[in-house]
Amino acid sequence: MTILRAAIFHTPRNPFREAKALAAHPDGALALDGGRVAACGEYAEVRAAFPDAEVRDLRGGYILPGFVDTHIHFPQVRIIGGLGYTLLDWLEQLTLPEEARLADTAYASAVASEFVSSLAAHGTTTALVFGSHFAPATAALFEAAEKRGLRVFSGLVLSDRSVRAELRQQPEAAYRGCVSLMDRFRRYVVTPRFALSASEAMLEICGALLREHPGLRFTTHINENRQEVEEVARLFPWSRDYLNVYERFGLIGRNSVLAHNIHGNDDELRRLAAAGVSIAHCPTSNAALGSGIFPLARHLRAGARFALGTDVGGGTGFGMMKEALQAYLIQRVAAEPEILTPAQMLYLATRAGAEALGVEGETGDFAAGKCADLVYLRPPEGSVLKGVLRHAGDQSPERTVGALFTLADAACIEEVQMSGRAVFQSREAIN
Ligand code: GUN
Ligand code: ZN
Repeated sequence: MTILRAAIFHTPRNPFREAKALAAHPDGALALDGGRVAACGEYAEVRAAFPDAEVRDLRGGYILPGFVDTHIHFPQVRIIGGLGYTLLDWLEQLTLPEEARLADTAYASAVASEFVSSLAAHGTTTALVFGSHFAPATAALFEAAEKRGLRVFSGLVLSDRSVRAELRQQPEAAYRGCVSLMDRFRRYVVTPRFALSASEAMLEICGALLREHPGLRFTTHINENRQEVEEVARLFPWSRDYLNVYERFGLIGRNSVLAHNIHGNDDELRRLAAAGVSIAHCPTSNAALGSGIFPLARHLRAGARFALGTDVGGGTGFGMMKEALQAYLIQRVAAEPEILTPAQMLYLATRAGAEALGVEGETGDFAAGKCADLVYLRPPEGSVLKGVLRHAGDQSPERTVGALFTLADAACIEEVQMSGRAVFQSREAIN
């Protein structure tokens, strides 16, 4: 049994529904036993409950739950920062040529290893990851994640039209590829790239996989870019809107995570909410690719679930705190503005993602019994963050969390644990 002593923040309740959903312990303790949370609370109380536990004094730093990224592409790690495009020309000119390089499994393994290291270094312990169009490359990602000890959900990316020829598969081959990966790896996700690159036969295959394997997850893109939405309407003339394409093939339910949904209509929002689908909101990508502004207030009104995704490499990096800050900034200036609170930002980066992936019983906050998945942040000496926190801490926990989300980046992350095991330590912490 170990006690970590530091300031601790988490959101075991939903701050979009309840006031005071931020659980804050400025002199806090997280008691860990066998990789699980035994207790989380005020240091004095937790210490009294576990007088024999070893104490790690981490005061001066901040513990948050491990971040949950609900939408990220592993083959795109090396093209982050390709600015000046919109979705379809970005895919054609920059992204798909890079994704084609993953046909070389040695190249793919190197990318997978960089990718999981970057997740861990940014405090992301759970992620829903778009795999590769190639089965060996997707296997390399699962293997790299397993080796690192991260909770990665992923699958073979499926396309049989619109993308360059070497990224296409026949639906029957895609089916066999999915089944053989599913046999080898846990946390498999059926992953057609988007309706634009999947024929009806391919979407049928996706539906068959979901029917044959109850509990299997599903992910894809939806309503990201206006040109994409128009093209999908042209390709599926029978469909009343974009969502209806996925509905028709039985792909929509509580296990589905759809990325973006910027241009969804009110009826789509209503149906998404009724089906319990989660939207992966990717604010840096939405801005970088000029895709549009996520209608967050409309999602809230409709009761549609959403969490955050970095959408690397359309997004600007692996930082989930940066993503939450971007969501806050953009919503301030949206046509229908919404002011996200620090508690809501923390929730969107942690527990909301766990709910989207159906792992809220395992991770996302520090309720007793959950896995000890955590990020330990310590502002560097002399940093602006350090100075701000000295003052913010005197005022309120919300101020502290707001300052962390505004100013903390990967350089502030000293340690990341997954089920109580370090998956990342900065050089200073190791020495
Ligand atoms: N739609 C289809 N593929 C992609 C992708 O790789 N990134 C984003 N942002 N949207 C997509
Ligand atoms: Zn994406």
